[in-house]
Amino acid sequence: MTDVPLRTDWTDTLARGAAPDAEALRAHLRTIHHDHAGFTESCAMRCHDAEGRTSYAWLAEAVEPDRHRVLLDLACGSGPLLHLCHATFPAEMRLIGVDMSPDELALARARLPVGRAQLTEAQAQRLDAIGDGSVDVALCHWALTLMDPLAPVLEEVARVLAPGGRFAALVDGPAEAAPGYAAVHDLIYGHVQAELPAYGTVDLGDPRVRSSADLVELARAAFPGASVRVETGVVAMSGPAETLAQEAAGFFYAAFVLAPAARLRMLADLAGLLSDRAVAGPPTFAMPINRLVVDLA
Ligand SMILES: C[S@@+](CC[C@H](N)C(=O)[O-])C[C@H]1O[C@@H](n2cnc3c(N)ncnc32)[C@H](O)[C@@H]1O
Repeated sequence: MTDVPLRTDWTDTLARGAAPDAEALRAHLRTIHHDHAGFTESCAMRCHDAEGRTSYAWLAEAVEPDRHRVLLDLACGSGPLLHLCHATFPAEMRLIGVDMSPDELALARARLPVGRAQLTEAQAQRLDAIGDGSVDVALCHWALTLMDPLAPVLEEVARVLAPGGRFAALVDGPAEAAPGYAAVHDLIYGHVQAELPAYGTVDLGDPRVRSSADLVELARAAFPGASVRVETGVVAMSGPAETLAQEAAGFFYAAFVLAPAARLRMLADLAGLLSDRAVAGPPTFAMPINRLVVDLA
């Protein structure tokens, strides 16, 4: 294995001290999802909240199967949420998945019965394959945080939703909600910033999605007259420190830009941190999450 870091237009632009554009962001994300397809579900499926729910299950609770007959999973990735919806909701519910990564969509296609979901490769900013007012509930699990520009995404969601429809998105929550999260974040970003000092000052996506107050404001502006709420939760996983470090690092796109040797050093430091602070019981990683729910009038 060659010991080179991931370098894309996005990282190169950052290294020059400039702000990467939308095309550089999309290409950067496509590269990571090509090289590590399925990584999100492999860490997110391991994490549960105090009631034993994964973040996918918490988001899916926003679906009301009696009145939601057409469901869109925006940025469906490898399809874990679509699979959960297929397994949970009536077979008559129409399922639609959109993602811009062909590698992730291939995994989604492989896990669902043939014809069960309409899967389309597209950008969330242009949902041309979906008609106006044709969707009852649009879900988006851990992807809104990555989208920039964001306004056209929200405009498209507003366009495809039927009157009375619902948009629910799971995004990163406030760091202080999850004990020990900030230290994990800072350790990983410290390693990345040793190579790319501006990573963190500039990050993937629109930073407003990471603030509960800004997120509410964005949603109120994009969906006039709608009822908007943001709820905060925490999901956590435990295990041997080395395995846990690898799984926790999966939540941080920044970790993917490290060269293999630098990544191993970061994982060793992270395993040390997780193991040092485990007082009683196995090492644990907790992740703060926000669930945005928008109900159209
Ligand atoms: C962290 S993964 C989440 C995947 C899946 N929703 C899950 O939680 O398992 C983010 C996904 O968003 C997709 N994505 C990011 N920006 C996008 C955009 N502008 N349009 C469509 N898909 C996008 C990526 O290709 C990737 O599959």
